[in-house]
Amino acid sequence: MAKVIGMLNVTHVPSIAGAIQGKKYDDPYWKPWFDGFHPVHDWLKTLNPTVVVMFHNDHGLNFFLDKLPTFAIGVAPKYDVADEGWNINPFRTFAGHEELAWHIREELHKAEFDMVVCQEYLIDHSVTVPMELCWPGVTPSFKFVPINLNTILFPVPTASRCEKLGKVVHAAIESFGPNERVLVMGTGGLSHQLEGKRAGHINKKFDKECSDHLVNDIEWFRKFTSEDIVELAGSQGLEVLNWIAARGACPAKMKEIYRFTKIPISNTAGNILCLEPS
Ligand code: DHB
Ligand code: FE
Repeated sequence: MAKVIGMLNVTHVPSIAGAIQGKKYDDPYWKPWFDGFHPVHDWLKTLNPTVVVMFHNDHGLNFFLDKLPTFAIGVAPKYDVADEGWNINPFRTFAGHEELAWHIREELHKAEFDMVVCQEYLIDHSVTVPMELCWPGVTPSFKFVPINLNTILFPVPTASRCEKLGKVVHAAIESFGPNERVLVMGTGGLSHQLEGKRAGHINKKFDKECSDHLVNDIEWFRKFTSEDIVELAGSQGLEVLNWIAARGACPAKMKEIYRFTKIPISNTAGNILCLEPS
């Protein structure tokens, strides 16, 4: 049977792609952030996933503000990178795990999550940047299943609904016949706000609390409304919903393997959190 073997949550910021393309690994601004991934690289070598199921948010590439599903799943055979306006050159195409994606969709439907099912699905910086940070320069051997959450336009799903979505995905993965080693990823966040009077807002204390509670106390998030999250973490801080869904998709008991913070990365509190079943 398939198994969830870990969770890897990572910030996504388009300018990281620019720094990778410009090979700014030793640039004083970027070096601490890139160095923060060395322990992740070592961990991933031992973990050796065969599938990545990623919770992320599209930024206007597949869905724009006029038609924005709350939840969508990719069931495509392959995922091509498209630049949504940041001048990011394509990194690489990912092979989809169609069979697992359809199985997850089926289980979500039984649990009354009516997903938009995408047989074609382009990927933006919310996928390519974390992938390139975690597997630099490598065409990964794992297959990929993307799950898209609306974190950008109200009404966004509540934290508790994202937790439930994740839990159904976990049960679906663990009821999938073939012996896959599944790494769950959540991208984006943590706190940031790109527009308006609070542009540049970062809340280091709340971010730390989020990472602390994600390890083994996901219930903590249930008390927050979407408005609370915007107030605390900034309007794009809602991307923490991807982190919550990813944690929901893991076994109940997890242990922390690694955590890293670099503030700021562009306008965002750059964060990494790695967990493994305990
Ligand atoms: C930034 C962060 C994001 O999450 C994003 O989608 C775009 C830009 C930033 O900090 O610049
Ligand atoms: Fe984003």
